[in-house]
Amino acid sequence: MFVGALRADVAPRPLYLDATQSIEARIDDLLPRLTLEEKLGFVHANSKFSAGGVERLGIPRLWLADGPQGVREEIGPDTWASAGWTNDFATAMPPGIGLAATWNPELAVATGRVIGEEARMRNKQVMLGPGLNIMRTPLGGRNYDYFGEDPWLAGRMTVGYVRGMQAEQVIACIKHFAANNQEQERGRINVEMDERTLREIYLPAFEAGVKEGGALAVMGAYNQFRGEHCCHNDYLLNQILKKEWGFTGAVISDWSGTHDTRQAVLNGLDLEMGTNGAYDDFFLAKPFREGIKAGTYPVALLDDKVRRNLRMLIATGALDQRRPGSINTAEHLATARRVAEEGIVLLKNTGGLLPLDPAKVTTIAVIGENAVRKFAAGGNSAGVKAFREITAFEGIVARAGAQANVTFSTGYRQPVRRSVYQVDAAGVRGSELSPAKPEEIESLAVRAVRAAQEADVVIFVGGLSHQTFGDDEGTDRRDLSLTAHQDELIARIVAVNPRTVVALITGSPVVMDPWLAKVPAVLQAWYGGSEAGTALAAVLFGDVNPSGKLPCTFPKSLKDSPAHAAGLARQFPGENGTEHYDEGLLVGYRWFDTKQIEPLFPFGYGLSYTQFAYTNLKVVSGTAAATATVQFDLTNTGTREGAEVAQVYVHSAHPRLARPEKELKGFAKVALKPGETKTVTIPLTSRAFAFYDPAQSAWSAEAGAYTIQVGGSSRDLRLEANYQLTTTTVGR
Ligand code: BGC
Repeated sequence: MFVGALRADVAPRPLYLDATQSIEARIDDLLPRLTLEEKLGFVHANSKFSAGGVERLGIPRLWLADGPQGVREEIGPDTWASAGWTNDFATAMPPGIGLAATWNPELAVATGRVIGEEARMRNKQVMLGPGLNIMRTPLGGRNYDYFGEDPWLAGRMTVGYVRGMQAEQVIACIKHFAANNQEQERGRINVEMDERTLREIYLPAFEAGVKEGGALAVMGAYNQFRGEHCCHNDYLLNQILKKEWGFTGAVISDWSGTHDTRQAVLNGLDLEMGTNGAYDDFFLAKPFREGIKAGTYPVALLDDKVRRNLRMLIATGALDQRRPGSINTAEHLATARRVAEEGIVLLKNTGGLLPLDPAKVTTIAVIGENAVRKFAAGGNSAGVKAFREITAFEGIVARAGAQANVTFSTGYRQPVRRSVYQVDAAGVRGSELSPAKPEEIESLAVRAVRAAQEADVVIFVGGLSHQTFGDDEGTDRRDLSLTAHQDELIARIVAVNPRTVVALITGSPVVMDPWLAKVPAVLQAWYGGSEAGTALAAVLFGDVNPSGKLPCTFPKSLKDSPAHAAGLARQFPGENGTEHYDEGLLVGYRWFDTKQIEPLFPFGYGLSYTQFAYTNLKVVSGTAAATATVQFDLTNTGTREGAEVAQVYVHSAHPRLARPEKELKGFAKVALKPGETKTVTIPLTSRAFAFYDPAQSAWSAEAGAYTIQVGGSSRDLRLEANYQLTTTTVGR
């Protein structure tokens, strides 16, 4: 009998297809089986959103998709045009800024899980999110897509999101690494900042995402950093991300963010996406192949990139039986609703106008185009083709329509996209952005004022939109004002009806002259995703007690804000191709507090329908060196159930190098019944006391005196304790 050859159908399963083997063993087995061409296929795109795949070996392509707020509509595969599918509707989660405003990392986990399950259903392995660039300027067009101005808060949200998503067999690609803090000139601008600022402000959320969250993908930013594009920046990618932080996943370029073969090969890029032109002309395609053949680049460099991409692919279960996904489920919508509810920030509530009792009003006038507008599709890459999106008006009608008359008046018209709406980019003011002509502006206002006069209560739904010069990818805002003459309109409305609530739908701070003093109640609702209107109504009518806090400072005017205070183009938006972060560490409240500038609303601020008392602060040493445990009691002293975000700030009394006045180093969101007290314990690691010491290239938590401040916002510190670090700890 002939026994020398095995028949193909009884051949043993190759090791790389054996799900019981470790990922590394599977890669070790697979890599030598790949030809040079097949390997190259894994390091550059082969459609708008895919790469790799080897049919003969049963290796599927790696499919990627935007974005941070839900799985984006199917496009292409080779064009940006819609693929015209009817089964790619998804749940729209509230954007990053709204998630950060919940100050609830569990909701970040839940968000990651929802998007992960939906991505699996859509057969995606890598989701291009979350976005975690720090809000350096309130004008940043993409602020809405990110987690606000504080590295600790952004880091906590990142870790939760990444863990939640990756638990769903979907890789989270944290983006945009690094210093992509404005949209103007984003593809070219060179960012310069000192090392401490990089380490203490712009990197920590990424570092946490990699080291604690275990993110297996990082997207390089469009801009340059110290003269080298971030998608192939040796310092950021090789030295910091891979060597210092031990990142084992893949660096993916932003779409068209690759500019040079040599740098892409040598400086840490693993997957080139979105370059214009034929796929084989990509920097990591033909030119890389030729370089390898000519001996310019060792194959080992290619192998390392392939390994990293395979690590992602195999980790998702793409070579095995992947769990089935699900999309638009009741649970997903319930999570979207919870995030939206918990993210709404009550900015003002004098005289207890809120919550409204629909049984005690006859007519509610809802005014404002944002009340009937849908936002989930907007903003470009973060847009979602929402299966369901409840507008503010729909939410209010559903909640109160059976008991009260709910009327609607448009009030103003938000701007439309630049291609349609010709504006002079240099001269235009934000408040004037509207396609409406003067007569139309006035007639809309007159009708809105009449509607306000005829109502018991007005709910003005205003804010920005995802249009050009708004909360928009690709452009920054012109100034801090509300668009479409809303300021004047609100002033006119509140003059005829003082029972006016203003609900703002924006993804970034706005100024509120000339109406804030006259309006009794203001809510910051962000963009709320699929259940935006349901969530807003639940807060307005008191079914949900607001518990969101601002993840960013709202300045009184732009010139109060750090990147704009000096009014220099070199600081914003850059001069001669370079932008200098001269404000250094003083970003957000770090600036306002150190320089003692009064903000309109401070970082961490947000009211509730109940009140909280803070007592019994104790700070004791932790078990490890240079750590501490902060403990205090929190009591709900009001009559409604509610949740408080208790915040811990650290102030260094005599720092060797200058430090911001105080820094957020811990927080906890605590739910309390009326009269209930809970003891809250918040650990502080040595990093909580440390600054980055460029001379030692390390974090230094120095012995000395610190003040621990605890309270409900960065400017509402109720408890304070001194704390002495007895030893100095230096570490990475
Ligand atoms: C954005 C990324 C996005 C990519 C793919 C880029 O323009 O900056 O955030 O993931 O496009 O759509």
